[in-house]
Amino acid sequence: MLGIEYPVIMAPMFLVSTPKMIVAALNSGITAAMPAMNYRTANELDEALKFIKSQTNKPFGVNIIVNKSNIRYKDQLDVCIKNKVAFIITSLGNPKEVIARGKEAGVKVFCDVTDLNFAQKVEQLGADAIIAVSSHAGGHAGQFSPKELITTIKEHCKIPVISAGGVVTNAQFQDKLNYGADGVTVGTAFIASNECDVCKEYKDAIVKYKAKDIVSTEKLSGSKLTVINTPYVQKIGTEANVLEKFLNRNKRLRKYVKMLMVINSMKKLQKAAFSTTYQTVWCAGPSIEDINEIRSVNDIVERIVKNEISRGARPCTST
Ligand SMILES: Cc1cc2nc3c(=O)[nH]c(=O)nc-3n(C[C@H](O)[C@H](O)[C@H](O)COP(=O)(O)O)c2cc1C
Repeated sequence: MLGIEYPVIMAPMFLVSTPKMIVAALNSGITAAMPAMNYRTANELDEALKFIKSQTNKPFGVNIIVNKSNIRYKDQLDVCIKNKVAFIITSLGNPKEVIARGKEAGVKVFCDVTDLNFAQKVEQLGADAIIAVSSHAGGHAGQFSPKELITTIKEHCKIPVISAGGVVTNAQFQDKLNYGADGVTVGTAFIASNECDVCKEYKDAIVKYKAKDIVSTEKLSGSKLTVINTPYVQKIGTEANVLEKFLNRNKRLRKYVKMLMVINSMKKLQKAAFSTTYQTVWCAGPSIEDINEIRSVNDIVERIVKNEISRGARPCTST
């Protein structure tokens, strides 16, 4: 569909993805997407897209959050359409308008879903592919294992299915393809890359912590988000308190509460991603289990797409 060498997307990651990482990904034979939310204005987003285009003519995408918490949604969509990005990834809401505008402009639209019901809805709306966000994903993870989610969606939907979550090694990549996925999208693995601009402490944490240290917290955006269980996360707890729950349930207030929580969580994540702070909240998924060093984007891609034998590993022989 995109004319790329390997069926892999470097996943959009709030605050983490940069144009430099995107270009490195495109030069490694995969595609990549970055979140529109990483830019405060439409102009900044426009400049970032133009920068990537000045470096390469390979296809890349942008992620747009389509729920009400994203007050810059319309401007972001306009900029993506104007720049004719190859694809848009929609998350956290109804993608109807993005799909319709994408169709008019020849921009493909891939929609994040966590269950079959939503997958069938986006297919009916005309999405070009489904991103099946599994329980192994970093960020806003789903409830179902990759195997369960991919096989169920493949059975009932005709458009391509891209699996999100839990890929760092070639064996994990092959597993997803064997379940029937047409491709995968990979986030956490690329946090520990040389090209990523987050602080050294965040990258070291990705290497040091393991899957057992990932917890899901409602404290930041109101929706469950996977983070590393740092002492600060342990201190504030992971469940929304009674007041937060009440405000989140109140129909009239919900939109504003969500917006405030998102702004607040953005500030915390931003501080922790780029400097040492006691309020350490680092977003990552359980796939940190298999991340054991900081590497170049190209090496991370090779680890995923090339099997150990073809990369020169020798089988063990007893003497
Ligand atoms: C640090 C971080 C930030 C993320 N930010 C976003 C985002 O802004 N928008 C989005 O749709 N998904 C976001 N995600 C989810 C990823 O796009 C992707 O679905 C996920 O990383 C796949 O699972 P993996 O981390 O096991 O590879 C984020 C994930 C991480 C780890």
